[in-house]
Amino acid sequence: MKEELQALKEQALAELETVASVDALKDLRVKYLGKKGQMTDILRGMGSLPAEERPKVGQMVNEVKKVLEEAIAAKTEVLEAEALKQRLASEKVDITLPGRKPQCGHLHPITLTMREIKKIFMRMGFEVMEGPEIESDYYNFEALNLPKDHPARDMQDTFYITEEFLLRTQTSPMQARKMQASVPDSPIRMISPGTVYRNDYDATHSPMFHQVEGLVLGKDISLADLKGTLETFCKEMFGSSVSIRLRPSYFPFTEPSAEVDISCVICGGKGCRVCKNSGWLEILGSGMVHPNVLRMSGYDPDKTSGYAFGMGVERIAMLKYGIDDLRLFFENDLRFIRQFK
Ligand code: DAH
Repeated sequence: MKEELQALKEQALAELETVASVDALKDLRVKYLGKKGQMTDILRGMGSLPAEERPKVGQMVNEVKKVLEEAIAAKTEVLEAEALKQRLASEKVDITLPGRKPQCGHLHPITLTMREIKKIFMRMGFEVMEGPEIESDYYNFEALNLPKDHPARDMQDTFYITEEFLLRTQTSPMQARKMQASVPDSPIRMISPGTVYRNDYDATHSPMFHQVEGLVLGKDISLADLKGTLETFCKEMFGSSVSIRLRPSYFPFTEPSAEVDISCVICGGKGCRVCKNSGWLEILGSGMVHPNVLRMSGYDPDKTSGYAFGMGVERIAMLKYGIDDLRLFFENDLRFIRQFK
């Protein structure tokens, strides 16, 4: 058996000399030292050796294994170094080739519009607050002076989750949340941007869309403040040449309520298809916060007054960029989206 081991060692070492690739080296290792290799064959004979011989042969087995492993490792290093040298010699890098531009994404037009709205209000000292999209019936409706069975609930086709919870139809619930989180009658000047949901789908409605709510409360805040602030916003957003007008309207959470229109950004007010020849475009709802809304959230209408407003971000983006179908925003057609790079 000793001779067999000796022969195996010599044969393996001789073969090693002739090996010329890392792959062939792996094969050689398997052939001699692998589980089904020659060494294993020899070891099968161990059982028939006299007991005193076994340790000696065992020792020799280990020595042969060690010699072969080391020789294979050394050869691997040599072959790998050679392969690397060859590759370096044959591969040439042309540093004069133009670089590859990484594909770079960009912000969605709704995000861009949202950011611009936020920026304008932040410059006027508004704080920005976000709230939950799964909202309670209480905050979405009741705390805004819209009790159960109020007919004005029909204006907002609502996705209910349970009787008590729903997908918010507006960002207005943040009015009540903000008041309740504040010391009663302390001043508030905030906007709340976010996603809202309604069961509508056509060229100007999507079941998922975005709003920015605004709330300003304090001592002696008047309709003049509302008009001045929203006029400033509209001029910043659409250009200093636009004018605004307030039209009486109805919202349950404000009294009086007003719809704010801007002079048509397409025709400048002369009348066109977009403004339906009226010269005006409706862009947001607003009003003086209803005393009930103040009272329900712990504010005292005798001490505090203020205004609120809410705008649809898609509508503003459509007017700003001249887009005639709201669904384009969410169809993910890159030919559309890439125009806003
Ligand atoms: N939440 C209203 C809507 O979605 C918009 C709105 C109107 C908000 C008047 C207000 C407001 O805060 O005062 O139609």
